[in-house]
Formats: sequence, structure tokens, C-alpha cells
Amino acid sequence: MSKTLTGRMQAEINEDVHDFNQSIIEDRTLFEWDIMGSLAHVYMLAERGILTTEESETISEGLTQILEDINYGKVEYDYEAEDVHMFVENLLIERIGEVGGKLHTARSRNDQVALDLRLYVRQEIIDTLTSFFDLQKILLETAEKHTETIMPGYTHLQRAQPITLAHHLLAYVEMFGRDESRLRDCFVRMNYSPLGAGALAGTTFPINRKTVAKNLEFEAPTRNSLDSVSDRDFCIEFVSCLAITAMHLSRFAEEVILWCSWEFRFAELHDSFATSSSIMPQKKNPDVAELVRGKTGVVYGDLMAMLTIMKGLPLAYNKDMQEVKPLLINAISTVQDCLDIFTPMLSTLKFNKENMRKAVAEGFLNATDCADYLTKKGMPFRTAYKLVGELVNLCIKKRCSLDDLPIEEYRAKSELFERDIYEVINIDNCVKARSLIGGPAAKTVKNTIRLLKSEKFGKGK
Ligand code: ARG
Repeated sequence: MSKTLTGRMQAEINEDVHDFNQSIIEDRTLFEWDIMGSLAHVYMLAERGILTTEESETISEGLTQILEDINYGKVEYDYEAEDVHMFVENLLIERIGEVGGKLHTARSRNDQVALDLRLYVRQEIIDTLTSFFDLQKILLETAEKHTETIMPGYTHLQRAQPITLAHHLLAYVEMFGRDESRLRDCFVRMNYSPLGAGALAGTTFPINRKTVAKNLEFEAPTRNSLDSVSDRDFCIEFVSCLAITAMHLSRFAEEVILWCSWEFRFAELHDSFATSSSIMPQKKNPDVAELVRGKTGVVYGDLMAMLTIMKGLPLAYNKDMQEVKPLLINAISTVQDCLDIFTPMLSTLKFNKENMRKAVAEGFLNATDCADYLTKKGMPFRTAYKLVGELVNLCIKKRCSLDDLPIEEYRAKSELFERDIYEVINIDNCVKARSLIGGPAAKTVKNTIRLLKSEKFGKGK
């Protein structure tokens, strides 16, 4: 039997054209969704009297059997077929006879593939949300253990002001929380059924698009048949969301790499999440984090390619759109792999509180607090800023910290300095004093963790 549609064609398709034209390889990911969509379609066709109950039952049983057989590896996947739609249809006809040919009544592969993709993307959004849940849970649990762990906060990768490790980790909870809400938005926008749009202009059969939408748990049918078959916004939107997530993971990965370096020594990877060198016996490399950082580039590439493929297409369906599929699938599985490995890597990461503490002691991270001290006593901030800058220079010359600088040196610069300056610039106090909303103080951070936990994992979630 010819594996390709013939129609008006009087010659078999050229083999190279077939290979060039097919999408059967990437379609493996979609076969389950393809069959689910077909089952909903057949059910509706019978309900509307377009197929008899008997025909619809024969087709449904055939489809269900195919689904089961593929899942149990009992069917050889046919790489000679043009795509998953033809593969399933051919197999169905082979098994149940000519009646199988009725499956494609009032339907085109154009609305069929649009449906498959929506069903697939919708499930992947849900799976990604589950991964976000796990990641944020680990982050909050780790943060809970480190509300009092003081570390340097950086700008320009230069030590800036002291913060708590919990505060740093909670910054990522904010990022992944935004990623989560972006995905929820994306879900709401894409959850409409395109089936019934046909090739481009719908159908004259008395189908009921609402039944199909309802049975496949879509909000409603899509509103415009042309748009339904030519729209891949939902793929692009999902991958855009994933690209932002990948960017967040990559930034985090970069910090893990830095923290695990001998220069920082703020953290150590669990041996099972690190790799060694083939020549240097001392090495403990953060390959996992590096790959997460690297794969982010792959996801961006997929997104850029998808946007570029779609940008010049006239309405409605064009075969170019087939090229979107492998990119979509690759971007999704790449980010999913990254999330799957990143969360356990993080949960086994050991933080070195002592080294963080040591790093805070050097680098004048309390200089701002010193300037604020004078400002609170009435000196204009800009004057105080300059004065403390001079004190920092003096400390550098004397190889000491602001904490060790004798009171006489302070008072030589300004009479406003009194003995309580040492209290104010004490690192613990610098952090404690930042208990404002969104600040790093243990008190604030503990409160935020409590709120986040009930918001994300509280009852009814
Ligand atoms: N394999 C095609 C795709 O993935 C399915 C739709 C084909 N439609 C068509 N008219 N050739 O996009």
C-alpha cells in the first residue's frame, strides 16, 4: 500500500521527496494526543449522526487498541508514513478495514495537527508547573535553614552590602514564581479547540465543535477557522516562557558555579552531582550547572527559529509550520531536563557558612551604613558618602577594616562620630537593621517564607 496520499497524483512520490516532506520522526511525541483527538472527533461524529454508532464504535475500539499497542511496544512505528496522522489512519484501515477511512470525515490534517499540538502543549505546561512547584519547595526549605546565614550581596560582582543567604534564595523564588504565573496566563490563552476548522474554511458537515472542545476539556472552540490552522502563537508563547525560565536557571547555575569555585568556596556540590577531570585528580567540576547554562542558548535558538519560520507565512496553513514542531519539542524537553536535574542538585548543595561570613568581613560592606550613620545625624548624604570614602581609603592604607579603625580616626574626620558607630557598622546589625518590606533581615525573610509557603503550598493548592 502506498504510504503517501495520492489524490490526483499519477506517480508515486519520489523517495527523497518523501523523506524531505515527512514529520513522522518528531511526531512520535504526538501520537497519544493524535489518538485522543481522534477519539473525541469520532464520538462527536456519531452523536451528530454523521457516523453510525456501530461505525464509531468500531473506529474507537480500533484507535484505543492502537494506542495500547503502541504504549506496550506491540506496534512497529512506521517511518515510511508521512506523519503521525497518516500512520494512525493507515494502521486503523489496515486493522478494521475501509470503515477506518471514515475517521477523517469533516476533518483535515491542518486542524488535526493544530489540535494535537494544543493538547501536547497544554500537558507540558502542566508538567512544567509541577517542576516549578518542586523547585520552589526546595528553595523555600533551603531558605528556611539559612535565615540567619550572612553572606555578601554583590553588585558588579563586587562585594556590596551584607545580606542573608535566605534572602538570596528567595530572589529566585520570585523569579520562578513569575515564570509560573506566565505559564498560567499562557495556558488560559491557548486552551481552545481548533478542531472543526478543517483545512482552512471549516466544513459543511453538521459537526458540533462545542462537544469536541468540552470532551477534550478546552474552554471553547476557537473563533476563526483560518487563524485556528495557521496559529502557532501558543507554541511560541510557551517557548518564550521557557526561554525566560532557562535564563533564570542559567543565572542561578552561574552563581552555583561561582560559589563552588575555590575563589568563593561558598558552597560545595554533592559528589554525585559533580564530575571529575580525566587528568587532574583534585578536580570537582560543576558540569551540571554549566550544561544548564549552555542549554539555555539552545532554547533561545529554538525560539528564534520558531519566530523566524512563522514571520513570512500567508494565511492559512503552510508546510513551513511543520518545522516548528521539532523546535518546540526540543525546547520543552531541554528545559524539562534542566529543571529535573537542577532541583536535586540544589537540594544536595552544601553551603559553607563560615566562608560566607569571612567574605562579609572583608570589602567594607558596612560602608553605606557608616555613611547613613552620619546622615541620620544631619550631615548631607553626599558629604557623608565622601567622608566615608576617605575613611575606607585610610583603612586600605592601614590594612584594617572600618570595625578596627580607632575612634580617634573617626572623630578626626567628624565630631558626629561617637562610640556607638561600632554597633551600627557591626555586620549582624547592618543586616538586622534592614527589616523593611523586601529586605534581607532574618525577621523579614522568615515572614516572607511563611507567606510564600501558604501562598504556594497552603491548603487547597
Ligand atoms: N505533518 C503536517 C505538520 O506537521 C501535518 C499537516 C499537514 N497538512 C498538509 N496539508 N500537508 O504540519
